[in-house]
Formats: sequence, structure tokens, C-alpha cells
Amino acid sequence: MNSPTAQAPHPVSGGPAPLEAKDLRKHFMSGDGSELRILQGVDLRVGPGEVVAIVGASGVGKSTLLHLLGALDRPTAGEVLVGGTSFIDMDQEARAEVRNRHVGFVFQFHHLLRDFTALENVAFPCRIGGMGEKQASDRARALLESVGVAGREDHLPTQLSGGEQQRVAVARALANEPLVLLADEPSGNLDEATSRDLHELLFGLREENGTSMVLVTHNLDLADQADRILELRDGALHNDVNSGIHDMGEKEGEELGG
Ligand SMILES: Nc1ncnc2c1ncn2[C@@H]1O[C@H](COP(=O)(O)OP(=O)(O)O)[C@@H](O)[C@H]1O
Ligand SMILES: [Mg+2]
Repeated sequence: MNSPTAQAPHPVSGGPAPLEAKDLRKHFMSGDGSELRILQGVDLRVGPGEVVAIVGASGVGKSTLLHLLGALDRPTAGEVLVGGTSFIDMDQEARAEVRNRHVGFVFQFHHLLRDFTALENVAFPCRIGGMGEKQASDRARALLESVGVAGREDHLPTQLSGGEQQRVAVARALANEPLVLLADEPSGNLDEATSRDLHELLFGLREENGTSMVLVTHNLDLADQADRILELRDGALHNDVNSGIHDMGEKEGEELGG
């Protein structure tokens, strides 16, 4: 398991992988005009129902990578394929459509629309995905129930606890039955017990729906439950997780994979 690339342990047979990244590169211009080469050739293949955790020191480019995987941003070079479809030649509108249909995103801070109820926040992407009003509302209600926040449909985000906000964000991400769920430190803002509940929810979803996931996390409890842990360092993903662990550990002395 010490190869420098990050391929699925069981090659996917019969059909394209839910998510694939090929030689992804992302460079930014820094304030002084020099070039920051944040991603320098990321390869990743996520199989059906597979959960991959990505760890790495702060500032190494984890959020940047997740944004590229979810087509929220474009790479400097390389390509991302969702369900075998490459984003490379798509205009912004086409990318947004594929993203809405096939990719669910959960952020560290819920990013719910604050003037809309929990139900409306979840129904919104269903509507964009083409459902009628009644269908979208029914789907949103069912999703909210499945993530354990039944009875909170009419609450605004500010009227929900942090854990409930993230559950609603997960329900929203699942609106259109995505091929892959991308989560950027989903429990980074939650206390330990609430984090555990959220992790249980995420892995329950995988059991029930076979949703593939890429989870960026500092949380060792979450990373440990994944099928694979990859470390982003020096601009690439590595199977051997060997640095930055002390930055990532939330509890002193705890080790990844241990
Ligand atoms: N739009 C941007 N322009 C310039 N630099 C950026 C931009 N976005 C991110 N960066 C830089 O890229 C690096 C990686 O950021 P990020 O992906 O947020 O790291 P992580 O999520 O691993 O903490 C950081 O040094 C950050 O300052
Ligand atoms: Mg980040």
C-alpha cells in the first residue's frame, strides 16, 4: 500500500468510476506575483460505494482539491470525470448542471441559505434538478427525515443546532442522488459527540445508498472509518500517511490508523 499513486484497491469493473481525477494541477498567483503550485499532479479513482478520506496539513491544498473534484473551480491542467464524463470541455453552465445532478457538497460551515427554511434549502436543488414543486417538497421532507431532522422542516438555519445544520446540509447534498458526496471537514465545527453522530450518518448513507464519498478531515475517528486514507502533501496524494499527523490529531497522542 505504499505506492505513490492512489488507485482503488479493487479496480472498478463494468462501468466508469463515480469519480476520477487525472494528473490534476492547480497553480495560484500569490500576492507578490510568484506562482504557487498547490496541486502538482493528483490522481484519484473512487469506486462505487467507496469512501476515501483525505488528510493533510493545513494549507496543503485539500479544499482546493475538493473544489476541483466538485467542479466548483477549474484546474490549471488535468481533468476530472464524474461517472465517466469529463468536465474538461464543458462551459460553466454545463458544469453546473453535472455538478447539481451528480455531485453533493458538504462544507465545514453549513452554507445553507439563511433566509430559507430547512425544507426549502433541500427542495431548492431538487427544483434545479427538474422536479416539480410538490415532488421537490416531498423529496426534501423524506431526506430531512432520513438524516434525522424530521420536525425541523420549517426552521431557519439559525434556529437549528450546529449538528442539525450539518444534517440539513447533508440532506441538501443528497437531493439529486449524487454519484459522489464530497465533504470538506464536515465535522470540523462540531463537538465530539455531535461529530460522531454525523459520521454515523455519513457511513449509514453509504450502507443504504452506496454513495461514494471523498471526505477531507482532521478528525481521526472519521478518517479511520474510511476504506482508504490518503495524504495530500507536496501537491500529490500518497497512500502512506506519514506527515502532518500531529497537526491533524485532535486528541494528543492519537495516531491515524491506530
Ligand atoms: N484563490 C486563491 N488564490 C491564491 N491562493 C489560494 C487561493 N485559494 C487557495 N490558495 C492557497 O492555496 C493553498 C491551499 O489552500 P487550501 O486548499 O484552502 O488548503 P487546505 O484546505 O489544505 O487547508 C493555501 O496556501 C492558500 O492560501
Ligand atoms: Mg481547507
